[in-house]
Amino acid sequence: MSDAIEKPLLAVLSGERRTPPPVWMMRQAGRYLAEYREVRAKAKNFIDFCFSPDLAAEVTLQPIRRFGFDAAIIFADILLVPIALGRKVWFVAGEGPKLDPFDVSLVDQLTEGQSRTVLAPIAETLRRVKPELPGHTTLIGFAGAPWTVATYMVEGGGSKDRFKTRVAAWDQADHFDAMLDKIADATIDYLVMQAEAGADVLKIFDSWAEGLPEPLFERVIIRPTRRIVEGVRAAGVTVPIIGFPRGAGTLYPRYAAETGVTALALDTAVQPEWMHKALPADLPVQGHLDPAALRAGGEVLGSEVDRLLDSWADRPHIFNLGHGITPDVPVAHVEAMLARIRSRA
Ligand code: CP3
Repeated sequence: MSDAIEKPLLAVLSGERRTPPPVWMMRQAGRYLAEYREVRAKAKNFIDFCFSPDLAAEVTLQPIRRFGFDAAIIFADILLVPIALGRKVWFVAGEGPKLDPFDVSLVDQLTEGQSRTVLAPIAETLRRVKPELPGHTTLIGFAGAPWTVATYMVEGGGSKDRFKTRVAAWDQADHFDAMLDKIADATIDYLVMQAEAGADVLKIFDSWAEGLPEPLFERVIIRPTRRIVEGVRAAGVTVPIIGFPRGAGTLYPRYAAETGVTALALDTAVQPEWMHKALPADLPVQGHLDPAALRAGGEVLGSEVDRLLDSWADRPHIFNLGHGITPDVPVAHVEAMLARIRSRA
């Protein structure tokens, strides 16, 4: 049997429709699981956790064992690439990621060519997870898109509206584009390494693609993402690539057409009928249950699951959330979501 027939998620990414659709969840290895919190407590800090292949492999596998999802996503973080570029990254409990704010005019100081050495432990995690997965389960590797990674580097962490980053993108365009290219090149090496280590699919997270004017979207989202897709392909990697320009709105179709990604991950705000018409008929999509509906549970969860299944029945579709699962979601709600999806068999 070919990989695509054996693995439903790969079949969908090659253009097949499946009923029920394959399903996994963004942030499926996370704090809503007691067994995750137990392993998490063993690590000194979050970055150490990501760089510990034994712990990272264990939490990658936990949601597969518990729920039988169609994909495992490697446990890591989008903020590991800045470390390969020579930046310091740390996590403060209750606050999230912190970095020393980066002045884009110092772009020449970012270190090049370090991804494969600095991020080698993530390849080791992939190699450990791969043989432990059931044959029908797809292994997903990932990285942040240059724009989203740049927002954390420039702001020094998360921010309300990425204003400083947007000003720098307009105001210091040459330095800014050079920084995006450096992030993209480090990301290409990282993703190629992940594919070589066993990733069946690669996903590019552009979590902060929302709210950008079209010229900026073209420059900071589409162009660097296309650079990554082309770079990964030039290295001989043929696995499907899922792009997630969260909040791209009416620019999703342009993103799909111009970046060369295999499939689109959709956010919660996407209007299915509009998007369906705006995309090529055979383009696979993934998504896009509201994590808040998953948290709410009950009838709203059931009807939202049904709405999405019906909306995407005519297109290759992978069921997922529109953003990551939150730590407060009861496991019973995840089970209810899966039962509803699987009842379509
Ligand atoms: O999806 C998975 O299960 C795989 C692992 C994964 C993590 N982060 C683990 C994680 C993935 C794919 C990511 C991607 C990521 N990281 C994104 C893009 C997706 C998105 O959510 O928009 C972003 C923006 C980050 C940066 C990041 N990492 C933030 C802002 C935070 C803090 C927020 C929080 O929930 O506390 C993290 C920490 C993080 N990354 C956690 C996990 C499980 C929680 C930290 C913990 O367990 O202590």
